[in-house]
Amino acid sequence: MCSGTGCIDGTPLPWNSPAGTLEVVQGDIERILIGREQIARRIKELGAAIRRDLDDWSRDGEVVLVPVLTGSIIFVADLMRELPNKIRISVIAASSYPGRNTQSKGAQIAGSLPGVEEVAGKHVLIVDDILDSGSTIRLIREELLKRNPKSVRACVLLRKTIPSAMETPCEYVGFDIPDEFVVGYGLDYDNYYRNLPDVGTLKKEAM
Ligand code: IMP
Ligand code: MG
Repeated sequence: MCSGTGCIDGTPLPWNSPAGTLEVVQGDIERILIGREQIARRIKELGAAIRRDLDDWSRDGEVVLVPVLTGSIIFVADLMRELPNKIRISVIAASSYPGRNTQSKGAQIAGSLPGVEEVAGKHVLIVDDILDSGSTIRLIREELLKRNPKSVRACVLLRKTIPSAMETPCEYVGFDIPDEFVVGYGLDYDNYYRNLPDVGTLKKEAM
């Protein structure tokens, strides 16, 4: 029986309730590609793999996670709770699909990068939602390497099975997916649908 503060106590979550607001979002979804349970299972596996490496890295330096806003917010929140290591976080903002685009417009860093003092001599793990053209991960890795970190690695939840993505160096990948525009679990279309707990494709009429 649940009695703590913040307990939902049997009240259905909006996502599962018969008349919840999720229906507005879910109504626009054509097909669920990866369900929330599958995502949760895979993040545990990714966490275990990263943890093994972090144990080695943290012997000779600190570890800094660099999540790429905004798409990685849900992923990094779940992933970091699989890492019991002593880690710091330094977020950066990048954009390559501004507004209603479903084609990359080329990666741009929209906010400031972590300062030299934050990454010099440390192990850095970039965390992003999806690898598509690869320009975001390449750009951020390049910029971080200029700051003399001990190492830079990257982790993405999704990777499209297209040459540009498959050829981009990335140490940890959650799922390889077909070349389709996806939303949910942090990924957006025009900044909507990030709150969908699963990853899916959008109906044509929603775009
Ligand atoms: P890249 O620089 O082309 O690899 O694209 C990476 C960024 O574009 C990701 O961090 C996402 O924010 C965005 N993006 C790429 N593909 C998708 C998609 O299918 N849905 C939503 N956002 C995407
Ligand atoms: Mg992004």
